[in-house]
Amino acid sequence: MYICLCKGLTESDVREAGRQGYLTTRQIIAEFGLRDTGCCGRCAKNISELVTLAKSQLESACRKIVSS
Ligand code: FES
Repeated sequence: MYICLCKGLTESDVREAGRQGYLTTRQIIAEFGLRDTGCCGRCAKNISELVTLAKSQLESACRKIVSS
């Protein structure tokens, strides 16, 4: 699914950036140049939601490991 129409970024691209260490919305926006001239910035909210979801899933997985 496309997350950013201006840059043609997909959800997979954003997830891969997370795996490579871009862990905040700000870092991802900078990495992909989503504040460049001609970019609308509308995707920032969707990227932020993806980051929040990924962090929540990671925290849940960590809690399961700690409690086992
Ligand atoms: S949709 Fe991502 S910058 Fe426009």
